[in-house]
Amino acid sequence: MSGAQRLTATVIGAGAGGTLSIDALIASDRYDLIGVADVSQASRNRVAEKTWGLVPTFATHEEMFAQRPSDVVCVSTYAPSHLEMTRAAVAAGNVRGMLVEKPLGATTAEGRQIVDLLKSLDLPLVVPHGLMAQSAALEIVARVKAGVIGNLRLVEMECTEWDIINAGIHWLQFFVALVEPSPIEVVLTAADSSTRTYRDGMQVETEAITMARAANGVRVLLNTGDRVPIWRGDTPCLMRIVGDRGFIEFGAFEPRYLLVAGDHDRELVEVEPFAVSGHQRHLESLADQIHSGAREYLIPETSLQALEIVEAAYESNRVRGSVTLPIGSVQPERAAGEWNPGEPYSGFGGGRNGREL
Ligand SMILES: NC(=O)c1ccc[n+]([C@@H]2O[C@H](COP(=O)([O-])OP(=O)(O)OC[C@H]3O[C@@H](n4cnc5c(N)ncnc54)[C@H](O)[C@@H]3O)[C@@H](O)[C@H]2O)c1
Repeated sequence: MSGAQRLTATVIGAGAGGTLSIDALIASDRYDLIGVADVSQASRNRVAEKTWGLVPTFATHEEMFAQRPSDVVCVSTYAPSHLEMTRAAVAAGNVRGMLVEKPLGATTAEGRQIVDLLKSLDLPLVVPHGLMAQSAALEIVARVKAGVIGNLRLVEMECTEWDIINAGIHWLQFFVALVEPSPIEVVLTAADSSTRTYRDGMQVETEAITMARAANGVRVLLNTGDRVPIWRGDTPCLMRIVGDRGFIEFGAFEPRYLLVAGDHDRELVEVEPFAVSGHQRHLESLADQIHSGAREYLIPETSLQALEIVEAAYESNRVRGSVTLPIGSVQPERAAGEWNPGEPYSGFGGGRNGREL
């Protein structure tokens, strides 16, 4: 890659997510990291140490945009500020592409505004879901779509020490990637919150089961929580991808998967990992899009659909009912007054006779 094609980049928010982008930009020969903004002095100090003071740091993104305009801006603050940061980056006038962390926004509506804004300006956008830049995960998506396990029927996921919104959004995005272009139609979740667990600034479930169903009938069953027993203890999320002619078992981010299907008798398929980190791969895809003029919004769109499932899951638990997507569309009528499945029916008080559907 010649020097002329190198792109300048800046990062807002230098915590766990931002550091993944900073490291990727430093490692890539496609980019020059020219500034990092973070409100925290401690975070700025860490950046200065990592870059031997060669990359200027700023307390606000406004200051950084004024002094270090860049081709690419990475937004790695918390989700509620992603829309504001994206708008500010675009308004600065010189941005040619963006990385915005998942979840794209605090709500699906905010995330949609980010995707629509960048599309309307014909600017490429990447959302760095790790599985979408991991060789085994991508091979699974391709092989499932090619029919290696027959028709996809069910994706079952066990995920411990995590919750629906923080890590679950990655697993749900993977499910959406498996079933797209079929849209997700309905989400039903029950969550226990007895331990009042919080994680990454959010109140989350102690344990939850989330069911999301796509228009083609394929379901995901995602069991998240603080202490979820997993059949194998060495992965944060174990997935079983079940078809009508076999299944795949996959521990998230592992460079292998188990394939049991037709002429594959419990084959452990090893997949050569990509040479670079997930964030670097996403950022280099962004560079490719900037230089070629091609645009690829599939990952942002599936990320948005995953965010919608997350939002619907928590809403479903709150209202004790199914939530129909898209969010904001007409919802199923909620039972008036108490209606407790499992209790004897008194014989009066209305309702619907389930034997006369
Ligand atoms: N894609 C991934 O694999 C991945 C991994 C980790 C985090 N993330 C995402 O990154 C985002 C940030 O989470 P995190 O885990 O890095 O949190 P974090 O607490 O580690 O870091 C957030 C950083 O943003 C800074 N910040 C907050 N508000 C700011 C503002 N207005 N201006 C400038 N800086 C600001 C904080 O001071 C902090 O340094 C989240 O959306 C999270 O989901 C993604």
